[in-house]
Parts: sequence; C-alpha cells; structure tokens
Amino acid sequence: LARRNKLVVANWKMHGSLALCRETINQLNHIVQPGADLIISPPAPYLSELGRLAQQTGIHCCGQDVAAQQNGARTGEWSATMLAELGCHHAIVGHSERRQHHREDNLLIAAKAQACIDAGITPIVCIGETLDERNAGQLEHILGQQLDALLATSGWRQAIIAYEPVWAIGTGKVATPAIAQAAHQFIREYLAKTDADAADEMMLLYGGSVKADNATALFAMPDIDGGLIGSASLEVHSLVRIYQAA
Ligand code: G3P
Repeated sequence: LARRNKLVVANWKMHGSLALCRETINQLNHIVQPGADLIISPPAPYLSELGRLAQQTGIHCCGQDVAAQQNGARTGEWSATMLAELGCHHAIVGHSERRQHHREDNLLIAAKAQACIDAGITPIVCIGETLDERNAGQLEHILGQQLDALLATSGWRQAIIAYEPVWAIGTGKVATPAIAQAAHQFIREYLAKTDADAADEMMLLYGGSVKADNATALFAMPDIDGGLIGSASLEVHSLVRIYQAA
C-alpha cells in the first residue's frame, strides 16, 4: 500500500460471522480506488475465509493482534509469520482493549510491533489517553511514553500509528476534528525529533466513534491519514460511506 495514501481499517473486534464476511465483500467488491486503501480486520478465525473472498478486490485483511514471538508453546496465540502466510500485510497491536483486558504494556506492544516488522508485515500500533489522563493534563506525557517504546524498536519507521483516545472508543463521543488534529500533529512532531523524513511519511490514523457523518471532516485534517473504524464498520453501508469519505 502506498505511504500516506488515505487508509480505512475496519476493526470488527469480536463481532461478525461468515455471513458478514460474505456480505461485506459482496457489497464492497468494486469499491477500492487508487487514492485510498481498505483493510478489514475480522476475528482471527475468519481471516482465511475473508482473505479468500477478498482476492482480486483490492481489499486487504489484517490481524487484530499478534504474539511477540514467531512460534512457541503459547496456547491461544498466533504469530506475525502466520498472518503473513495467510496474505495479511498488517496487524493491529496495542489496541486499548488489549491494554485494558489483557494488561498489555508499552514494552510488550513494542515487541509485538517489532515481531510484525521481522515477519514482513506492518504493525498498526494503537496509542491514546484515557479521559482522566486528558483531564489531568497528561495527554502529551502519555502519548510520549507510548511513542518512546515504539521508537526504541529498530523497525518503527515501518509502522502505522493509530491515535485512539480511550474516551472516544465505543462511546459515540468522537474527538472533534480540531482535537484529533492537535493530537496527530503532536505525534508527528514528536516522531520528527528522531527522524523528520520518517515522521513526514508516517501514516497516522484516527480511531474512536468514526461514523459516516463525521469521517469527511476528520479525514480532511492535514495530519489525519485515515481511520480505524470499530462499530460503524459492522454496518456495510456505513463502511462504504466512510471509505468514500477517504
Ligand atoms: O479500533 C477501532 C476503535 O477502537 C474504535 O471503535 O466503535 O468507537 O469506532 P468505535
């Protein structure tokens, strides 16, 4: 996928079915245009079937998580190498739901990002603050810590970063375009302190209650290169409109 093309990633989380895989690909079959890329991230059991259905459509599939190791005695996990073998070019890592429910920390997430890069796939690294952290004036401190862990890996320049303020995820409370842009600009400037060219090329996605009617304004912001879409991606007509906004 082209760097800093617009990108829409549909994160189904633990939702969906084989029927939704079929319905989504049927309806999105001819939608992908050169200016914007579309990735669907279904639960792992559906990756193989969704990948098969999506062949020749220009739609890509992506994992919702990945282990930090390429193999081993780790029941219930899968590796970046396995995702690559299925034809995935991407994996989401460090989603706030993984941080919250599975106690994933910045170091583990950085190791997962590096495991993706080692296997030849692009990690979509999620970062973002809680409402308490934002209200306490800690936005830049929290984002800085999350970015520092990623910057310590050798492969960070190959990553995509998704800014997902925790208070906007699944709440219907979308960040305004100005609030989202300010955070994205901070992230890009923070990366630029290490490597200005890489920061300029870095894809930065916004996630958190993106819907068909707010996507256009968000995607028009100069540092927002696309979106990571949760619940709206489960309604195919909404996903179509969000992709068209990109
Ligand atoms: O990864 C996408 C995400 O966490 C946002 O979810 O449902 O608020 O769009 P949602």
